[in-house]
Amino acid sequence: MDIQLNFSLKKYNSFGIDVWAEKFATFNAIPALLQLLQQQGHHTPLLILGGGSNVLFTKNVQGLVLKNNIDGINKINEDEQYIYIKAGAGVQWHYFVQYCIANNWAGVENLSLIPGCVGASPMQNIGAYGVEIKDVFYQLDALHIQDKTMVQFSATDCAFGYRESVFKQQYKNQFIITSVTFKLLKTPKFNTTYGAIEQELLKMNVQQLSLAAVSNAVINIRKSKLPNPAVIGNAGSFFKNPVVPNHLFHQLQQQYATVVGYAAGTENTKLAAGWLIEQCGWKGYRKGDAGCHALQALVLVNYGNATGESIYQLSTEIIQSVHEKFGVQLQREVNII
Ligand code: FAD
Ligand code: EPU
Repeated sequence: MDIQLNFSLKKYNSFGIDVWAEKFATFNAIPALLQLLQQQGHHTPLLILGGGSNVLFTKNVQGLVLKNNIDGINKINEDEQYIYIKAGAGVQWHYFVQYCIANNWAGVENLSLIPGCVGASPMQNIGAYGVEIKDVFYQLDALHIQDKTMVQFSATDCAFGYRESVFKQQYKNQFIITSVTFKLLKTPKFNTTYGAIEQELLKMNVQQLSLAAVSNAVINIRKSKLPNPAVIGNAGSFFKNPVVPNHLFHQLQQQYATVVGYAAGTENTKLAAGWLIEQCGWKGYRKGDAGCHALQALVLVNYGNATGESIYQLSTEIIQSVHEKFGVQLQREVNII
C-alpha cells in the first residue's frame, strides 16, 4: 500500500484550504483498507475523507488521512415497488443520482448536484429540496475501526435527524462506511412542492414531468445561488438552520415581520439561518480571503488563500452577532478538523 508523507490536502477539500496530512493513502476495496489499518497499528489517528466537501481544515492533520475510493453500483434486489441499489462509498454522489435517473429509478432526483461521495451521504443525512437520504435509505455497511469487523446498519440504527446521524454522535470516528444501499421507487412519485421547483419547471417550459426534468430544475436553482467550489472555495451551508420552539418564533415575528421560518413538527419552527445572518449585515462581507457569500449568507467562502482559522474565526463572529441580535444560537454544520 502506498502511503504518502507530508501530502497537500488543498485539492482534497472544497474550501481549498492549504493544509498537509502527515500521511495520506487511498483505498478502493475493503481488503486494501484492512491492510492499511494493519500497517498503521492501533494508535495512529485516522481521518476518512470522501470528496472533502463538508470539512474545514484549521490545521495540518497528524496521523493518516484515508481517501475512500470504493467504486461500484449494483442492483441487489427488486420487488414489485422498489429496486435496491448498492453503491460503493467512493462513488460520486451526483454520478449516482444521474445513474438512477438514467435507469428511471426514483427518489434521489431532488438531491441532484450535492457534491461529495456516497459514503458520506448518511453522515449528515444529506438533504435538499424536500428530500433527505433517510427517505431512500435501506442499509449501509461499515468497518468498525478498532475491531476490524463489518457491521450492517439499518435506517433505525443510523438515528437520522436533520443533518444528523449516529456517525456524527456516539459513533463519531469509530466506523468507515464502505457502501450504502438505497431503496428506490420503480414508478416515480414526484416531489415538486418544495421551494422554487414548480416555478423553475414552468420557466423551463416542462410539459411532461420526468426525473430528469425535476433534476434539471433543482440543478438550475442550486446554480443560481450556491457558489461552485471549483471557482470559489466553500462547503455549502456552513451552519444548520436552527430549530426553535414556536413561541420563540412568534416572539421574533412580533419584532421582525419578515423573519423566515418553516414548521418543524407541531411544536418547533426551523428558522432560515441565511436570513438571520443577512440581517446582521454579513452577506457579501469579506475580510482578506475569507467571506460570507453575496448570494447566500449561509455559505462561507474562501476567495483564494484564506486559512481555515480565518474562516473559523469569521464563523465565530457570525454566531456571536446572531446570538446578540436574535438570542438564537447557530450551530456549525461543517465538520471542523
Ligand atoms: P467529506 O467532506 O469528505 O466528509 C464529511 C464527514 O464525513 C467527515 O467528518 C468525514 O470524516 C466523514 N466521512 C466521509 N466519508 C466517510 C466514510 N466513508 N465513512 C465514515 N466517515 C466518512 N449537504 C447537504 O446535505 N445538502 C446540500 O444541499 C448540500 N449542498 C452543498 C453545496 C455545496 C456547493 C457544497 C460544497 C457542499 C454541500 N453540501 C450539502 C455538503 C456536502 O456536499 C455533503 O455533506 C456531502 O455528503 C459531503 O460528502 P463528502 O464525500 O465530500 O464528505
Ligand atoms: N435567506 C435569506 N438570505 C440569504 C439566504 C437565505 O434571507 O442570504 C432566506 C430566504 O428567505 C430563503 C430562505 O432563507 O427563501 C431559505 O434559503 P434557501 O432556499 O437557499 O435554503 P437554506 O435554508 O439556506 C437549506 C439547506 C441547503 C439545501 C437548501 C435547499 C441547511 C443548513 N441548508 O439551505 O443545504 O440545499 O436548503 O433544500 O439546511 C448544505 O447543507 O450544505 C446545503 C446547501
